[in-house]
Amino acid sequence: MSQITELGYVTIGVSDLKAWENFAGQVLGLEVVPGESEAVRYLRMDYWHHRIKLVQDSSDDVLVAGLRVAGVLEFRAMAKTLSDAGIAVRIGSKAEAEANHVLEIMFLEDPNGYPIEIFHGPLVQFNLPYHPGRRMHGGYKTLGGGFAHMMQSRRAEFDDIHAFYTLLGMRGGIEYKMPIPMLPEPIELMFLHCNERQHTFAFGGPAEKRCNHLMFETEKIEDVGLAYDLVKQAGIPVIIEPGAHANDHNFSFYFKNPSGFMNEIGWGGRKPPGQSEYYAGDVFGHMPVLNTMKDFMVPA
Ligand SMILES: [Fe+2]
Repeated sequence: MSQITELGYVTIGVSDLKAWENFAGQVLGLEVVPGESEAVRYLRMDYWHHRIKLVQDSSDDVLVAGLRVAGVLEFRAMAKTLSDAGIAVRIGSKAEAEANHVLEIMFLEDPNGYPIEIFHGPLVQFNLPYHPGRRMHGGYKTLGGGFAHMMQSRRAEFDDIHAFYTLLGMRGGIEYKMPIPMLPEPIELMFLHCNERQHTFAFGGPAEKRCNHLMFETEKIEDVGLAYDLVKQAGIPVIIEPGAHANDHNFSFYFKNPSGFMNEIGWGGRKPPGQSEYYAGDVFGHMPVLNTMKDFMVPA
């Protein structure tokens, strides 16, 4: 069976490119690289050409998620699997693949209506080591687990989302039934994995934006502390204070980016446990900052 191997990249539409350049370089420690036009910037965090593409756009949201398969055979098998399942897929032209810095690309939507790109063969630039935009103790963990995990809002039923991503070779399900003081029922959250990262995609409830948060994992715990200090010094709102998650075990915190959704930076994640589990709370911490948290509620 053909299988997604990682979240390879995302494209984010940003209304304030200048603010994002500063945030990406000075707060996140990413390398900011000029794009093909004044309306495009690339963000690097390892040897890949880019992991994030910023495009000037009023959406202030993730526009596209790029999911990798291992190679040409897996790419063709995936296209057949999707077509056989009745899912509309468009294979990109050579020019479209080149424009996205991959060997081959296909375009489709998930059951939420969210654009997905499935690709193989990213441009990897071993002659251009990642150059952080600010000091770091170490780097970001990307080998074996993709560059990030992403929590998204939900516009379809959990079962339909689960069936679609199972077709892509991802595993997982409901992992949290989280009691929320102002809601009558616990909110359910679904998590899906495809590699060593405990989850690559998560889905909450309906929300205006597609992206609830994008999470990067550091090699060293000191970089979580350094990022926290820099966020506070810059006057950026912390949305969830440091704590440890029950599912991925990351020690992390959440803060607001210039597009109004959240970034999470963490350390110490575990691999998927291999069998389903669910949790009603985290290990410790992760206290929401209540005056800002309401913007990020994901009611079931
Ligand atoms: Fe997260």
